[in-house]
Amino acid sequence: MTTVAIDIRGVSKVYNPGSNQAVQALDTVSLTINDNEFFTLLGPSGCGKTTLLRLIAGFEQVTGGEIMLFDEEIENLEPSQRPVNTVFQHYALFPHMTVAQNVAFGLERLKKPQAEIDATVERVLSLVKMKELGDRRPNQLSGGQQQRVALARALAPSPKVLLLDEPLSALDLKLRQNMREELKQLQRETGITFVFVTHDQEEALAMSDRIAVMSNGEVQQIGAPTDIYEHPVNRFVADFIGDTNFLDGEITSVNDDLVTCRVGSESLFEAANSGNHSVGDQVTLFLRPEKITLSAAGDASRQGRVANIVYLGNQAAYTVDMGDGIELTAQARPREDGNLPFATNDTISVDYSARALRVLAK
Ligand SMILES: Nc1ncnc2c1ncn2[C@@H]1O[C@H](COP(=O)(O)OP(=O)(O)O)[C@@H](O)[C@H]1O
Ligand SMILES: [Mg+2]
Repeated sequence: MTTVAIDIRGVSKVYNPGSNQAVQALDTVSLTINDNEFFTLLGPSGCGKTTLLRLIAGFEQVTGGEIMLFDEEIENLEPSQRPVNTVFQHYALFPHMTVAQNVAFGLERLKKPQAEIDATVERVLSLVKMKELGDRRPNQLSGGQQQRVALARALAPSPKVLLLDEPLSALDLKLRQNMREELKQLQRETGITFVFVTHDQEEALAMSDRIAVMSNGEVQQIGAPTDIYEHPVNRFVADFIGDTNFLDGEITSVNDDLVTCRVGSESLFEAANSGNHSVGDQVTLFLRPEKITLSAAGDASRQGRVANIVYLGNQAAYTVDMGDGIELTAQARPREDGNLPFATNDTISVDYSARALRVLAK
């Protein structure tokens, strides 16, 4: 049976309410996060991610709605009384303390017995692979090592929920990618519920059990990474997660599993019928670049002209002019000799399954 760790019920947050500097940071957000889940809040800067974490942690109060933690209403609990701990983007270790002292600090404030503190410090430092470096000071550590210490410090009091506010964003790309794996593994090993905040869609897809995509203080969609990527509910989500082709048009016919849509002045596209569409509806179709196959011009039904190529090493992104004002972006791999398969202005075949083309709600 699934236990709900955090139940966010219609939560709104207005900063400086009633003044001319009022900001609605969250607007009736509802979501549930399960125990033992790696849950990610994903969205652009300013969409309210940090605000939601601060409400869960108790650093801010809701203006509307309520938050339940393991079935308990937490409105009146001080931050230190909540079974929650936070890892911040800027990990703010105490510079005059060693690694071990930094990790022990919170436990000492909780007046734990010394033997228990020592054992916990050792356990969490080995969890984050920093056991050997307990005597170092923060300025003797790399950024990645400092972030591990911050993680160990947050794990030490055994919180039931760990809130992570863009913890990898200060690290360089390679390190960030390695830490993704480690964080995911840490979550599995500890069984602690992780609420992870990021504006990086790739990070979210790689790490999460489920993702809530946010914009402007509202949740746009909640789902597993494949749901969000393959079945975005609207244009914002489709656009924010990954690259995509959008085609605006009008539905001209509907049958069971396919619709036909007129794009441009006269181009007809068949797309998967996601239901509830009628002839005459103005819709947006979307098609992921990797669902398109480019090949040398043949008898295929559709052909286009290569308008632009962006070389990316392991692949190249091709912009193909399909005529009638329509462009599609697709990918192709370099050949074995390293040369790209098509050149600018080549006429090529553009193939995809109608099922890969989907109708989005506007
Ligand atoms: N203490 C504050 N006072 C006033 N406005 C704030 C405060 N904190 C955040 N905001 C505003 O609330 C909105 C959401 O901010 P935030 O939760 O930090 O977003 P994110 O973490 O997604 O970047 C933004 O418009 C931000 O400017
Ligand atoms: Mg933030």
